[in-house]
Amino acid sequence: MAKLHTFKLNTGTLMPSVGMGCWRGQPGLGPDKELMRSLKLAIQAGYRHLDTASMYQNEADIGQIIKESGVARSDFFLTTKLGLSMHDNVEKAIDESLDKLDTPYVDLYLMHWPQGRDSNGDAYGDGTGKGKGPTFQETWAAMEEKCFKTGKAKAIGVSNFSVQNLEKLLQTAKVVPAVNQVECHPYLPELELEAYCREKGIHLTNYSPFGASHLPIHADKDIVAIAAEKNVSPGQVALSWAVQHGHSACPKSANEKRMKENLELIKLSDVEMKRIDDISKLDPTRRTRLNVLACDEKTGLVFGWTLKQLGWDIGFKTLGVPGIVE
Ligand SMILES: NC(=O)c1ccc[n+]([C@@H]2O[C@H](COP(=O)([O-])OP(=O)(O)OC[C@H]3O[C@@H](n4cnc5c(N)ncnc54)[C@H](OP(=O)(O)O)[C@@H]3O)[C@@H](O)[C@H]2O)c1
Repeated sequence: MAKLHTFKLNTGTLMPSVGMGCWRGQPGLGPDKELMRSLKLAIQAGYRHLDTASMYQNEADIGQIIKESGVARSDFFLTTKLGLSMHDNVEKAIDESLDKLDTPYVDLYLMHWPQGRDSNGDAYGDGTGKGKGPTFQETWAAMEEKCFKTGKAKAIGVSNFSVQNLEKLLQTAKVVPAVNQVECHPYLPELELEAYCREKGIHLTNYSPFGASHLPIHADKDIVAIAAEKNVSPGQVALSWAVQHGHSACPKSANEKRMKENLELIKLSDVEMKRIDDISKLDPTRRTRLNVLACDEKTGLVFGWTLKQLGWDIGFKTLGVPGIVE
């Protein structure tokens, strides 16, 4: 079993560098047999860091798998996330998650997106006081009180936060987020966000570290060349690059061989690190952001917000998604 590097969060908690992404894209379809099969294999392979969310609608499956695994709950690092529609009821949200996960605490509770939204799907304010519903600063204050202080979450953090929105959050936060989980991979290296988070003591976790199944990172010429020189897979290069940057990562794999491979990281030289850092800088066709795919076809908004509200830069290819509001 691979010996995994861990990162110390600003709470002192240790977080395994590589986790298993639990988003399988079948919310609402009932118990996810495929997830349960593959998570069982993942736990056998040595995964102890599991990344889920109330939006994934599989917390009950994950709670069951943890119970059945025979591994002590305290050996897992379990992350779940506050749903967008629960920004105005954080206490109920975490209680429901703990109930479904069948655990008294989570190791990390993340605000899934800065924008909350109501039951009609209309987004709340953007931290400037505009709009209805709580701002993300107010939601964060509730997470501090109802999740962190109560011990229901050993650490709290955010997800999909840009420097712009972290700056707004830190103006009022009493607890500095332990983690910011963001899309990050060689086609979106997020080096400025990394520098900002490092200065503030916020650990970065890369989600979609391979660009999901939408980006050709496994076939990228530079990544493939480095992988061939090192006799590893392109996926291992992408994950090793992430961890050497000081980020954890939560790749998803349902394939036993690949999930094992993803735990075996290598040491990249400074030259190799720089070569990967520069992929998107030198070639704009290899710079993009997956989450524009989440934008509404008619409005061009990402869960109700413009890219400007999200603070996402616009110097990337938008994968041809129509109507994006920058
Ligand atoms: N916070 C957020 O808003 C947010 C958003 C998106 C995702 N996430 C989290 O991040 C996790 C991972 O993201 P993701 O599923 O979007 O994308 P990903 O991990 O970048 O990519 C998953 C894809 O890569 C394949 N794969 C895995 N290992 C591989 C390897 N070594 N070589 C070649 N292909 C490989 C998988 O196929 P096989 O299964 O067949 O191996 C799957 O198709 C999610 O499950 C979720 O936990 C969070």
